[in-house]
Amino acid sequence: MKIGIFDSGLGGLIIARAIRKIMPKYDYVYFGDTKRLPYGNKSHEAIFEFTREAVEHLFRKENCVIVIIACNTASARALRQIQQEYLTKNFTERRVLGVLIPIAEESSKYKKVGVIATLGTVASNAWEIEIKKINKNVKVLQNPAPMLATLIEEGENKLAKPFLLKYLKPFANKKLDALVLGCTHYPALKKEIRKLLPKNVKIISQDEIIPKKLKEYLAKHQEIALKLSKNKSMEILVTDKTQNMGHLVKKWFGKAKVKVLS
Ligand code: DGL
Repeated sequence: MKIGIFDSGLGGLIIARAIRKIMPKYDYVYFGDTKRLPYGNKSHEAIFEFTREAVEHLFRKENCVIVIIACNTASARALRQIQQEYLTKNFTERRVLGVLIPIAEESSKYKKVGVIATLGTVASNAWEIEIKKINKNVKVLQNPAPMLATLIEEGENKLAKPFLLKYLKPFANKKLDALVLGCTHYPALKKEIRKLLPKNVKIISQDEIIPKKLKEYLAKHQEIALKLSKNKSMEILVTDKTQNMGHLVKKWFGKAKVKVLS
């Protein structure tokens, strides 16, 4: 059986690549819902429905035993319902994991943490809730960055600078200790963000944390790990063939075949 990685678009390939780098032996299927991106400004109900459909596809058609929801918006808005309602009814032997808790664990080591994320993720307040569950003394400041994921997915990183300035401005003079890149796509702008932040502010980026945490999870959960096949395969599935898809896949993942789901 395989490991599924789901994102609203192609940004999750940055995480998929990082996961595969430290665990190359397994078989992976990536699912990018390019037809319906962005999720960030959609309703809770729509995000749940889209995420459930993707998970269902990865379980039923792609034989995944575990799915990583690399999309922060989906992790914030749909994960709990998927785990508590959908899995318990339909797939008790399979697992769906999100990206928020591992990042919240890392964030909880700092006193004052800024978060940039999509509108939907910020509206859910999931980052503050998850970080404070681990350490209630952390001060969490959140700011939505609604344009970034779309610009990144369009390959327009250069156009992102004025938006970054706007989205990071509320954190100026707030003496942050760390900034969470609370969206799958933002690691693509890590260098640009680094330049705009004081040097002492730690950037918490999912591509650096999720792979380690998944490895630890599999080491602890042999009932899942033992079901994983090890042929080093990688499939990338998308729901729509977008114009710059080939370019982004190459840039964020490397050479790979992409299949458009009909
Ligand atoms: N993948 C989404 C996330 O991590 C960002 C893109 C979107 O809005 O769909 O929140």
